Amino acid sequence: MRGSPRHGTALGLIVLLLLLVATNTTSTTTTTATQLAQGVPSEHLLVQLHEDVQEQAHQLATQYGFQSARKLPFGEGLFHFYPQDTSKSRSKRSARSRQRLQKDPRVKSVVEQDGFSRQKRGYRNLNDIEVNLNDPLFSKQWYLINTGQADGTPGLDLNVAEAWQLGYTGKGVTIVFLSFLNAPLCSFQNADASYDFSSNDPYPFPRYTDDWFNSHGTRCAGEVSAAANNNICGVGVAYNSLVAGIRMLDQPFMTDIIEASSISHMPQVIDIYSASWGPTDDGKTVDGPRELTLQAMADGVNKGRGGKGSIYVWASGDGGSYDDCNCDGYASSMWTISINSAINDGRTALYDESCSSTLASTFSNGRKRNPEAGVATTDLYGNCTLRHSGTSAAAPEAAGVFALAIEANRDLTWRDMQHLSVLTSKRNQLHDEVHQWRRNGVGLEFNHLFGYGVLDAGGMVKMAKEWKTVPERFHCVAGTIQENHKIQSGSKLVLAIDTEACQGKDNFVRYLEHVQAVITVNASRRGDLNINMTSPMGTKSILLSRRPRDEDSKDPRGTWVLEVGFRGDEPQRGVLKEWTLMLHGTQSAPYIDQIVRDYQSKLAMSKKEELEEELDEAVERSLKSLMSKNN
Ligand SMILES: *[C@@H]1O[C@H](CO)[C@@H](O)[C@H](O)[C@H]1NC(C)=O
Ligand SMILES: *[C@@H]1O[C@H](CO)[C@@H](O)[C@H](O)[C@H]1NC(C)=O
Ligand SMILES: *[C@@H]1O[C@H](CO)[C@@H](O)[C@H](O)[C@H]1NC(C)=O
Repeated sequence: MRGSPRHGTALGLIVLLLLLVATNTTSTTTTTATQLAQGVPSEHLLVQLHEDVQEQAHQLATQYGFQSARKLPFGEGLFHFYPQDTSKSRSKRSARSRQRLQKDPRVKSVVEQDGFSRQKRGYRNLNDIEVNLNDPLFSKQWYLINTGQADGTPGLDLNVAEAWQLGYTGKGVTIVFLSFLNAPLCSFQNADASYDFSSNDPYPFPRYTDDWFNSHGTRCAGEVSAAANNNICGVGVAYNSLVAGIRMLDQPFMTDIIEASSISHMPQVIDIYSASWGPTDDGKTVDGPRELTLQAMADGVNKGRGGKGSIYVWASGDGGSYDDCNCDGYASSMWTISINSAINDGRTALYDESCSSTLASTFSNGRKRNPEAGVATTDLYGNCTLRHSGTSAAAPEAAGVFALAIEANRDLTWRDMQHLSVLTSKRNQLHDEVHQWRRNGVGLEFNHLFGYGVLDAGGMVKMAKEWKTVPERFHCVAGTIQENHKIQSGSKLVLAIDTEACQGKDNFVRYLEHVQAVITVNASRRGDLNINMTSPMGTKSILLSRRPRDEDSKDPRGTWVLEVGFRGDEPQRGVLKEWTLMLHGTQSAPYIDQIVRDYQSKLAMSKKEELEEELDEAVERSLKSLMSKNN
């Protein structure tokens, strides 16, 4: 198949191959192929030459009136001949030069490329949106609809307008803010679900202080539930949702009991718990939920919401590049959905931490001086603010998007919500200067800081509506190494666990959802330690915590590799004492056709160059996987 000139697009090929892998039926293949839009002629040519020589291609291209030729990686002698410019007056001439080119003896074949329409996802003109809201700050809420306010990037937003237009505003969904709350500006409150664990009474009202320390919950709640059309402040992501408050941070010390009580408060009434707190983000703390809180979380996902599971949304942390959110056992737990933040032009915020457990991102302030680049929301004392900030501001936006999804489909489980986040989040126009975007084993793009991209409310409610709950989940201890291995600066320790993922047993995990690596290691300096793990499919995750996680849904059988080393100037040593690998996932395939659709749309969005680069890899991967399945 490689090396033959293609009439269709590179895109078509990937989709077909993937479908073959996914379903093995030709009927599905046809359906998808016909979804490709009819194109209009472009002046771009796919030219195959008898000789695979770049200089000759360039010379031919200029001779026949093209700007130049670029070698394509799809086969021998294939080149992209591109025009000098796109002015229409040239098209007659280019038609003639195409005919002459076709007759040149050095040319094997010429295929004209169709031009088809690809809209920037999420880009909309504010005037095109039938959202007429009178709330004065609405136009400053760029995270809802980004038209380029405050020097932002148009289209880089949560795409809530689409969800609202489909009729989803969070009706009947209860979100609780684990913080403190005074939300007279929110449309609907669920007072019964509120509680004050800081002073043990049912009234979670903030203690008024001069330093605005207690504004947190009010600001967070406003982002989700601020009423629409009341002429006050702005609008919440899920402006018809019910909001409750749990005051639990306003005492000198946190206790396991307060945490556990908060997290397990009224799990049959509360759908979503939004937490924008965690261990100190000082770059040297490794901490997480204690015994009771862990149990409360496990009970929440297993028994909350009538067994569908409580949704825990977590801010990934504000420690900046010196911290690693995998060291935060709340954010890195597989039971929470941890959310990072992007700023209004798609860059990372200065306070963002990166880690493998971040699932997706929403928006917050950071880097920009423009006072309107912050998050506009409700504030204490009946005021509004334009300056809500940090990943604290990002997590509630996610809670709002999840409320819209639950309204669209009440049957979504806590795992469905994670799958939906992975499948519908978009790279959009995010850029991270430190970590590259990569594809995991099933071809989904992810980034070590942003996760799978920004949440897309419109995409999420549409998929949620059609969603079938993922198959039953199984847990497998894939392998364990329990002997001491020395680690030293200057040479890294490489360990491998070869696993059958409990194949042949009741708890066989065929399709992976979460991976946990339980690692016990001592070191002369913990901060210099770095740990990476690579899956059998070649997805590398950078770990540091004791309970890391990666989201991947391909076959977990094969060899997992752990690399442990030191970075830093001083020589360090340590001992790895245990590595146990836990796999969690399903035995039957989840949503194969959804994945293919998503892959298709993500490819459509990515830049052409990247697409071409990745084409080869994707084809290889698909073929490999096809072959291994046939074995
Ligand atoms: C909040 O509103 C009050 C009354 O409208 C006003 O006096 C006060 O300055 C405002 N505070 C802030 C921080 O904007
Ligand atoms: C780590 O543990 C080993 C074996 O238990 C011990 O010999 C060593 O002194 C410890 N090293 C550090 C840096 O604590
Ligand atoms: C882990 O991966 C990071 C990023 O690719 C790299 O800089 C680091 O050296 C790796 N560490 C080990 C121990 O392999």
